[in-house]
Amino acid sequence: MIIYGNVFYKGRIVECGIEVENGVVVDIGKDKRGKSVDGIIMPAGIDVHVHFRDFKESYKETIESGSLSALYGGVCLVVDQPNTNPPIVDEEIYFKRMEIAERSTYVDYSLNLGLVKDNVDEIDEILKKIEEKYYVPAIGEVFLKGKMSVSYETLEKAKKTVNKLITVHAEDPNEEDDVMAEVKAVERCLKMNRFHFCHISTAKALDMIYNSESTSEVTPHHLLYSKEVVKFKVNPSLKSNEERVALVRNFYKADILSSDHAPHTLEEKWEGAPGFPGVETLYPMFFYMAKKGYIKINDLVEKFVVNPAKIFGFDRYGEIEVGNYANFVVFDPHRERPIKAKDLHSKVGWTIYEGLMAVFPKDVYIRGEKVLEDGEILIDRGFGKVLQA
Ligand code: DOR
Ligand code: ZN
Repeated sequence: MIIYGNVFYKGRIVECGIEVENGVVVDIGKDKRGKSVDGIIMPAGIDVHVHFRDFKESYKETIESGSLSALYGGVCLVVDQPNTNPPIVDEEIYFKRMEIAERSTYVDYSLNLGLVKDNVDEIDEILKKIEEKYYVPAIGEVFLKGKMSVSYETLEKAKKTVNKLITVHAEDPNEEDDVMAEVKAVERCLKMNRFHFCHISTAKALDMIYNSESTSEVTPHHLLYSKEVVKFKVNPSLKSNEERVALVRNFYKADILSSDHAPHTLEEKWEGAPGFPGVETLYPMFFYMAKKGYIKINDLVEKFVVNPAKIFGFDRYGEIEVGNYANFVVFDPHRERPIKAKDLHSKVGWTIYEGLMAVFPKDVYIRGEKVLEDGEILIDRGFGKVLQA
């Protein structure tokens, strides 16, 4: 099969054909003529921070509904987080969740292993058992505050025993000021070792990570909204507009853009549950911003495709290139429209991005197969692959 059109290739949009065999790109060239595609063929997104719930919280989201939402948003691979109910803290529950994923995920799926104080002594053993079967992207997200939290000492102990990326939700448990809580936690972790820091919300912490061996993630909600504008709760909190603007100015220092898709029902939101859904809207909103010239398209691809694959070690995922999976999203830049919750596919039925402009994918290809065409899903649940060892 050859797909021909305007392709984002090696940092530029060029007219060429992509030859695909067995789900993998085997050749790219101007003389490769084939089925012509209208729009811009972009690499599909990788969202390294989603909470797809399931288990006892299936009423909020399931792997099935979350991954469908991801697919509509042009995402081909997700990293799910282990703070489920019950949490993913040993091999038994990890395997159970992967079996659910195997039969219900629409997009490719991977799962982090959780770290708690009760499993730190066995964490390496647990990891090794899981890795006989599955590819584990990271240990994390590790919380330093709240329900599933560990102490700095436990985190350090884990870092010493496992040879694996650890992702940290950096908020110091003893600091009242939200900005300082993040800065302090990052400072403390950077002294220990190399980590990957989830959803950084302050320019100061982002800069400290940028000048270290560690890597960082930022989210659309911290970039677009301040606490004066959105009153719903999220952790880390939305900051002042001044802080938000500083984060935007330092966007280039972030390695990864992720959604931290964290669905809760509206009833739970009114009661203060933290988190926003966002896996479906990230790529469409940021593609729109790139189209408008607010951000560079190369930065978007670097932070939502290339670096996620690189930092989390996803072999054959990433930019459109010979040897990589044929995971593409076709955007028609003329089809911009406001985001409406009723058009989205998360179970929760609301979004903080209501009314913001976006360009949703026209078509999506996963491993060479067209899985979405003009808003129609062409495959069944279970089409997505869980990442094997
Ligand atoms: O706001 C948040 N919600 N922050 C987190 O770190 C967890 C997430 C959730 O699982 O709801
Ligand atoms: Zn988090």
